[in-house]
Amino acid sequence: MSETIKILIVEDAPADAEICEREVRKALGSCRFQLVETRQQYLSALSEFQPDVILSDYSMPGFDGMSALKLALEYSPETPFIIVTGSVSEDVAAGCMKAGAWDYIIKEHIKRLGPAVVNAMEKRQTLLTKRKAEEEREVAYKALDKALNDSITAMSKIVEMRDPYTSGHQTRVADLSAAIAGELKLPVEHVKYIRIAALIHDIGKIYIPSDILSKPGKLRDMEMQLIRIHAQGSYDILINIEFPWPIAKIAWQHHERLDGSGYPNGLTGDHILLEAKIIAVADVVEAMSSYRPYRPALGIEKALEEISQNRGILYDPAVVDACLKLFSTNGYKLEG
Ligand SMILES: [Fe+2]
Repeated sequence: MSETIKILIVEDAPADAEICEREVRKALGSCRFQLVETRQQYLSALSEFQPDVILSDYSMPGFDGMSALKLALEYSPETPFIIVTGSVSEDVAAGCMKAGAWDYIIKEHIKRLGPAVVNAMEKRQTLLTKRKAEEEREVAYKALDKALNDSITAMSKIVEMRDPYTSGHQTRVADLSAAIAGELKLPVEHVKYIRIAALIHDIGKIYIPSDILSKPGKLRDMEMQLIRIHAQGSYDILINIEFPWPIAKIAWQHHERLDGSGYPNGLTGDHILLEAKIIAVADVVEAMSSYRPYRPALGIEKALEEISQNRGILYDPAVVDACLKLFSTNGYKLEG
């Protein structure tokens, strides 16, 4: 510890304060001391002197140790607070320790004060180091999380650059999927990865020639077959990224339907992930509401009619209900 340690003494008896100073100096060498005895002086010292350790008497004519302790904890819980008192009541000592005091020294045993302050300073250093490490971890985690989100957004934009007619599709599907997941009261972390999966669910479209993606009019069977490989394509790309969530599998299943009529694997009911069922509904609602090169926009009413009519047949009933509630009760709107 290279900086001079600052010790705040809360004491109404100058002679006792001097004894405290002497004992602390014996243990720590040179220190700076400030002596206060009223609440007002104490508050000023907390903000201006900014002590590293507080030594407080338990009872004084105009102030008391418990109030000083409470204020110290608000000021900085990492600052050691040691009660130094003439009282020998075990109840008082236990009460102080329970309230957050770091130690309790009886003036009769004042020789204990020096080692107690050294011990408290070491504990404080450990706490400060731990807190700094936690703060650094938090900053690193946020930076990593931002990098992940930026990368996902970039990947999403790459797909949409090749398919300008569906520009914004994945973002709108991601917003709606997250809103449905929220409506289903899924945990925050779960909502977060559903949004990520929805943002890149169509990444496999980069395997499809762009003239097919933007072809006006009805697609031929052969072209339809080509379009359908995108779900498998999304899986093949995303499986190479070690997400802590099943993103590849969700994207793989986003065109599966409850009755097995979907693709690429014709999965049914419980074999389809809930996340994929959510994105499936959001995908259909967004796609039907929007313009496509082969048809005009059908509108949100038609889209909601589609999921209502096929509730429990193609689409998960709870997911459909959540989606309908969003639009009918919560005033949800597809952006852009
Ligand atoms: Fe798709």
